[in-house]
Amino acid sequence: MPTKTIIEPFRIKSVEPIRWTTRREREQLLEAAHYNLFLLPADDVLIDLLTDSGTGAMSTHQWAAVMEGDESYAGSRSFDRFKNSVQEIFGYKHVIPTHQGRAAERILFGVTCKKGEVVPNNTHFDTTRANVEFVGAEAVDLVIEEGHHPSLQHPFKGNMDVAALESLIARVGRERIPLVMLTVTNNSGGGQPVSMENVRAVSAVCKRHGIPLYFDACRFAENAWFIKLREKGYENKTPKEIAQEMFRYGDGCTMSAKKDGMANIGGFLCTNDDMLAQQEKDLLILTEGYPTYGGLAGRDLEAIAVGVQEALEEDYLRYRIASTAYLGNHIASHGVPIVQPPGGHAIYLDARAFLPHIPPDQFPGVALAAELYLEGGIRSVEIGTLMFAHGAQMDLVRLAIPRRVYTQSHIDYVVEVILEVWKNRERIPGLRLTYEAPFLRHFTAHLEPMNVGAATRS
Ligand code: F0G
Repeated sequence: MPTKTIIEPFRIKSVEPIRWTTRREREQLLEAAHYNLFLLPADDVLIDLLTDSGTGAMSTHQWAAVMEGDESYAGSRSFDRFKNSVQEIFGYKHVIPTHQGRAAERILFGVTCKKGEVVPNNTHFDTTRANVEFVGAEAVDLVIEEGHHPSLQHPFKGNMDVAALESLIARVGRERIPLVMLTVTNNSGGGQPVSMENVRAVSAVCKRHGIPLYFDACRFAENAWFIKLREKGYENKTPKEIAQEMFRYGDGCTMSAKKDGMANIGGFLCTNDDMLAQQEKDLLILTEGYPTYGGLAGRDLEAIAVGVQEALEEDYLRYRIASTAYLGNHIASHGVPIVQPPGGHAIYLDARAFLPHIPPDQFPGVALAAELYLEGGIRSVEIGTLMFAHGAQMDLVRLAIPRRVYTQSHIDYVVEVILEVWKNRERIPGLRLTYEAPFLRHFTAHLEPMNVGAATRS
C-alpha cells in the first residue's frame, strides 16, 4: 500500500436515504417498541447494525448477473454457474442450494443425526443448535478456554479445544458422534477466527475416528483473511488459496450466502458423500424445491455465484476487516469494554463491564442497546440474558457491520454515540420483563425501565 489510509474500495452508484429522528421521537418509538429493538420499524433506525446477514450491498457485477438469471424450473443455466463458482472455492462434489443457512442445517442434521447423538462445534450458532436439538441430538460447544473471556487477547479465539474433543469422543463413543462442526468465523464467540493449524488438528482427530468434519462456512472469507494476517506461512497466499486449503480438510459444509455470499438471500449445503447427497436432495425437494434451484430464483443463484468470489478479493477484505477493527479499537482506546480482539463482522460490547450497576437479571445488554438507540438512532442486538433464557455466561451487545453499506463517517458517528453513552453510563437504568414468549423470547419480549417511578419523581 503506497498510503496509510484504507479507503472503501468502491464508488457509490445508488443511494438509499436514511432518516433522522429527534430524541423525543426516539423516546416515544422505544416505548412503543417495549424497549425491544426487534419491534422497531426499520424506517425509524438511522444506522442499522442489527445483523450483517442479508443486509449487504450488491456490486454492479452482481446486479448485471441478476439480469442473466435463468428461471427454468429444472436444469437452469444459473445453477451451473452457481455450482461451478462454489465448487472452485469450496471443492466439494455436491452443491445443494437452499433458501438460507438454516435450511441447509435442517437438512444436514435431519439426514445425519438422531436422538441420543452428540454434535461438537467450536460454538453453535442459535439456529445450528436449534436444528441439532430439533432431531433430539445434543449440541456441545468446545471453544478454547480463551474464547470464554471477553478481554483476553488471542489471535484465533474461535479455535476448538482439541483435547476436549478427544475426551468427548472417548466419553460418548465415536458411534454417537455423526459429525463434528467448525464455525468460521465463530459468530456466537465474538466473530473470532479459527486457525488453519486448528482446522488441521481437528480434521486429524476426526479422520482418526472416522467422523466427518463439516464447516459452518458463513464467514469463510473473513476467516481466510485473518489466517493470512495472523498465521505464519500464509502471508503470501491469496484468501482464495487459504479458503480452498481449509475446505480440503473437511467433508462438507453448510453456508448462509447472506454473509460472505454477498447476497440478500440464499445458502447451500455441500458434501463429498454420494449417498448422503441423494438423501439430502430428496429432503430438499420436499420443502425447498428441485435441486437446481432449492428455494431460490435463478437470479439469486447468479448473485451468489459472483458474490462468493467478490468476498475473497483482497481490497475488499482489507477494507472490511480494517473498518470493523477501526470501530472496536477506537472505542476500546477510550476504555469501552469490548470482546477482544475485534472480530470480523462485528464488535461486541461487554455490557456487564459497561454497566456494572445493572445485575444480569435486569438485562444490561438490552439496557445498553436501548440507550444506543435513544442517543443516536443506532440499532444493535443483545446477546445475553434475554436471548438465552436459561442463563447466559456473558451479556454482550453486538454491533454487526453490513457489507459495503456504511462509510467511515457512519462508523465515526457510531463511535461518537457510543462514547457519549459511555460518559453517561451511570444513569442508564436496568429493565424488567413485562411479556415473554415460551421460546426464542428475545424476538418478541416486552420490557420497561426499572426506574420509571424514580425518573418521574426527580
Ligand atoms: N450459522 C452462523 C454462524 C450464523 O451466523 C447464521 C446466521 C446461520 C448459521 C444461519 O444462517 O440466517 O441464513 O439461516 N446468522 C445471522 C446473524 C442471522 O445475525 O448472526 P441463516
